[in-house]
Amino acid sequence: MPRTLINVSNRLPVTLGADKITKSSGGLVAALEGLSRDEYAARWIGWPGAAVEPDKQPEVEQTLIDEHGCLPVFLTREEADAFYEGFSNSSVWPLLHYMPNYLRYEPAWWDEYRKVNQRFADRVLATARDGDLVWVHDYQLLLVPAMLRAARPSLRIGFFLHTPFPAYDIFRCHPRRRELVEGMLGADLLGFHTFGYLRHFRSTAANLLSVETEITRVRTADGHRALLGVYPIGINAPKFDRTLDGADHRERQEKFRHTFEGKQIVLSVERMDYTKGILHRLEAVDCYLAGLEDRDKVKFIFVSVPSREGVEEYQELRADVESRIGRLNGKYATLHNSPVHFIHGSVEFADLCALYSIADAGLVTPLIDGMNLVAKEFLACQRDGAAPLILSEFAGAAEELFGALIVNPYDAAAVGKSIAQALAMSPEEKQHRTGPMHARVMRHDAARWAKSFIDDLAAGDGGEADHDTAADVSGAAPQLAQALRSGAPVEMFLDYDGTLRELERDPATARPGDALRALLDRFAAQPNLAVTIISGRTPDDLDAFLGKFPFGLIAEHGAAMRAPGGGSWQRQDEQVDYGWQALVLPILRLYEGGTPGSSVEEKRTSLVWHYRRVDPEFGAWKAKQLAETLGAVTANTPVQVRHGKQIVEIVSTQISKGIAASRLLAALPQDRQPALVLCAGDDTTDESLFTIGSDNLLSVKVGPGPTAASYHARDPAAFRRFLMDALGDGRQPAVCPAR
Ligand code: UDP
Ligand code: G6P
Repeated sequence: MPRTLINVSNRLPVTLGADKITKSSGGLVAALEGLSRDEYAARWIGWPGAAVEPDKQPEVEQTLIDEHGCLPVFLTREEADAFYEGFSNSSVWPLLHYMPNYLRYEPAWWDEYRKVNQRFADRVLATARDGDLVWVHDYQLLLVPAMLRAARPSLRIGFFLHTPFPAYDIFRCHPRRRELVEGMLGADLLGFHTFGYLRHFRSTAANLLSVETEITRVRTADGHRALLGVYPIGINAPKFDRTLDGADHRERQEKFRHTFEGKQIVLSVERMDYTKGILHRLEAVDCYLAGLEDRDKVKFIFVSVPSREGVEEYQELRADVESRIGRLNGKYATLHNSPVHFIHGSVEFADLCALYSIADAGLVTPLIDGMNLVAKEFLACQRDGAAPLILSEFAGAAEELFGALIVNPYDAAAVGKSIAQALAMSPEEKQHRTGPMHARVMRHDAARWAKSFIDDLAAGDGGEADHDTAADVSGAAPQLAQALRSGAPVEMFLDYDGTLRELERDPATARPGDALRALLDRFAAQPNLAVTIISGRTPDDLDAFLGKFPFGLIAEHGAAMRAPGGGSWQRQDEQVDYGWQALVLPILRLYEGGTPGSSVEEKRTSLVWHYRRVDPEFGAWKAKQLAETLGAVTANTPVQVRHGKQIVEIVSTQISKGIAASRLLAALPQDRQPALVLCAGDDTTDESLFTIGSDNLLSVKVGPGPTAASYHARDPAAFRRFLMDALGDGRQPAVCPAR
């Protein structure tokens, strides 16, 4: 029984024309045609490519469903202008292709983009059943994954980007960069053509949002884990085989051979798009022709499929290309030949295959391209390994097609030389280069590509998930509420930053907000509750933020303590030897100097290297290196090197939050032994609290990540709500006085 797969892409595989439905162009459609129908019952949701009057929509919809398995999302002319030509193709497309000079942005386009993305998401939600796989495609629908997740978290959502993903420094130019990345991160699995694109996406997410990243994973602030994967797209190989074996293939080949008799053919095929490097290629053709003696013996065929003709840059490109070709043909034409044969239109698939197969060289020189299927299609038609491929190093395909003549499309003279080299190549060299590439593109085809993505999507984490055994903190609410109501003593040891209060980029600004102050007041009003705030901060910080509350305060991870109700701070570390600081500090200063944005904090009891303001990837790498170095240097010293959230901290092993809390508990008199001890924290330094060995311990880790705690709360807000709910309105009778 095939599994239902809902493909969601802007472009349906068919486009509505004035009087008929035609096949759509472009790599996305070509690749998805190759999905195996035995394994997946694919439904397709997308835009039919033209506006349809409301009264005609039901009839058109029925035809699209019945004859093509497509559910249309209808857009008015105005909606398409703003969503498709505006935001998608004048704003996002240029940026994804490293061309911020073409980036245009209008707030109204953004509004429409969001609305249309929501329309796509709603269409999915109306048809998807539990267990269906939803696969969202490409840059026109970047917000759809998060919209789907928000509405139905149980869906398994995949997203594939068919374009490059640029470096953060480029992507950050977009005024809506944050929202776009957040939208993508709604997916469970995000696919890219190359590891380079994946890496750029991950570092962009890390720079823009407060997420944790690993090589192929991003964890968002709310704990959602998005897996990242590399899936180089392929062609519909069986379709090429069928066509090349077809009855009329030879006939078509012969026709072309006859038309171009006596000439070597160099073929280029693409959408008319500024990313494809057409003008640069014409420059290279100029260089090649300039050095050629017999200009009657070569023909360049340029097939340029009309694309996005409503967008100004595309109109300008067409005009520039046509005028450049006019000049080139004028310059190099003889009485028997004009060198460039230019077709601005689409070519029937069978003709395309015949053209690919009779060409003497393929010339594929985009300035940048996510993959470029034309390169692979050209190779699919080289069954006898007869013709070489000249390929831009900036196409994703260049990472796989090692036998190609790899060129830099900006170097016209060098591309010209490669054309000469390709046309003069010996049959043995052609076979040697092209044969293995032909085999590769036929083997790693679109069906394999789709299957590997979908298998990974269906499999989920594949065992890579954190083995998080902690239950949601809501499960502990009855136990805490009951203990508080009983009037028996309850002790709480609560970390501050990241636990009671959200983390701030600048820790000095993390004073308690309104919600937290209300909670702290409520703590103070609960007679059988003793609260100790236990933090890595200095005594001064804790005094400033929390001094007016009647809580115990423990600073510097346990090295200083102040009893509830004011009074002076008591040092707990008189016996501790801090001699190791002289050894460690110079190393930290070295890292501070070599890592822009990092800083060293000298505390009495610990030394901390902060990297919150460092480029996230660089910071994480340096932190790992630092932790390793310190581990070796301090091997015989009673210190612990902790790699916490955006910090590497070196503390004495004689001090920890757990030791401090245990000491306080042990000092309690018999009649004040707690019925319940609640310990909560968010960081590795808090883990010592979760193993303090009390019989009545209730331990809570706030935020995602592995932990020894029994419960976890999603974030500080969820933790505060949990506490507030358990405390109730405070009108319970007080039975037992607090410590
Ligand atoms: N193509 C087409 N109509 C044509 C000529 C080509 O649909 O008249 C197809 C071509 O066969 C290829 C796709 O358009 O499958 C272009 O994909 P590619 O990945 O090279 O570039 P994209 O258009 O996706 O940027
Ligand atoms: C590229 C994009 C696709 C798009 C195709 C054709 O392959 O990645 O998403 O469908 O070009 O462009 P169009 O604007 O006609 O859909």
